Amino acid sequence: MLKIASVVGTRPNFIKISPLVNEIKRHRDVKHILIHTGQHYDKQMSKSFFDELGIPKPDINLGVGSAHDAVQTARIILELEKVLSREKPDLVIVVGDVNSTFAAAITAKKCGIPVAHVESGLRSFDMGMPEEINRILTDHISDFLFTTEESGNENLLKEGVDKRKIFFVGNVMIDTLLHHRKKAEKSAILSKLRLKKNEYFVLTLHRPSNVDDQKSLERTLGILEPLLQKIKIVFPVHPRTLKSLKRYNLLSRISSKKNMVLTGPLGYLDFLHLMANAKLVITDSGGIQEETTVLGVPCITLRKNTERPVTCKQGTNVLVSAEKNEVVDAASRIISGQKPTARIPKFWDGKAAGRIVKTLLQAKGRQV
Ligand code: UD1
Ligand code: UDP
Repeated sequence: MLKIASVVGTRPNFIKISPLVNEIKRHRDVKHILIHTGQHYDKQMSKSFFDELGIPKPDINLGVGSAHDAVQTARIILELEKVLSREKPDLVIVVGDVNSTFAAAITAKKCGIPVAHVESGLRSFDMGMPEEINRILTDHISDFLFTTEESGNENLLKEGVDKRKIFFVGNVMIDTLLHHRKKAEKSAILSKLRLKKNEYFVLTLHRPSNVDDQKSLERTLGILEPLLQKIKIVFPVHPRTLKSLKRYNLLSRISSKKNMVLTGPLGYLDFLHLMANAKLVITDSGGIQEETTVLGVPCITLRKNTERPVTCKQGTNVLVSAEKNEVVDAASRIISGQKPTARIPKFWDGKAAGRIVKTLLQAKGRQV
């Protein structure tokens, strides 16, 4: 029997693994184990996604918790090595670009186990981002590189990756979105937060470059002030950002602003419903750039670069660096009714997980 271990650790990982777990489950001759590193651990950042997306409880939780990037990576390696030596899977699947992704990939390779990287090839060309380091290192030690957009294929080929390892399959995060979209329509989040469709913006922030130091965080929040005069902004606060808001005494300042609706991190279905009915999403998230493209909702990404250029070329995303006027101008155009036209990128069709599992089973000589 073929044994596959998938390793996840953060909120976007759970969303990406969900369709893969379902797809693997369809094959009775494959044993699957799910390993949670414990990088994210709050109920609203972890368990709520397992419950809402019907992901089985992890077989193993390494419980590493929070620490500086290097220490967190090291702790995952130490704990995971014990598990992989004991479980001896034939293949390890990792998703995305977080510390858990790279730590799991390097541990598997050092244990002599082949690695499949889902969401391969994305590049921001900004080595100041911890995720860029994780992406490059993970790609160069993986055996199966599953890409979500053409830029991923091009980047990998330019970096000298053997083209036989690259599989352009589409986007598992979009599989999850398409699968849960109908269900999300039943969410009561709009009435709970007293919002009307198309009459609010959604904001998410958690990139270290926007939230870790006081000056950047104050500058980012300052951008919103003129917009709050015009429209409600719903801000589900990521725990990293909450920590900074408290550290710099900014929490009471923003929560007292007229039109600012602060919440904790939301569950998947509530957040999807909130995005789908928003006039605009302002974010620095990776995944949300992709989701807004598929939902056809305008998105302003508060970053200098994106590793997901297809969301700007074909989707609704515009990159606006955190310069006040540019953001206000871009948002004002949307308030006045301008809406970008969007195309759905190739293979973002809800079938990416099926293509991935088929490729893996064929490579392992299984019937599919
Ligand atoms: C991580 C990923 C980032 C991804 C994001 C998704 C890395 C380097 N970064 O960033 O790429 O976009 O997850 O959300 O892997 N915390 C809690 N509760 C939790 C988890 C975190 O309070 O359940 C707090 C802790 O104070 C922690 C901080 O958030 O120190 C940051 O968490 P961490 O996982 O290190 O990075 P993220 O910013 O979440
Ligand atoms: N998300 C969510 N609740 C929230 C904010 C985000 O369910 O309050 C979902 C969002 O729809 C997307 C994923 O979390 O599927 C994105 O995760 P995040 O922004 O934390 O990470 P990134 O994509 O930047 O790595």
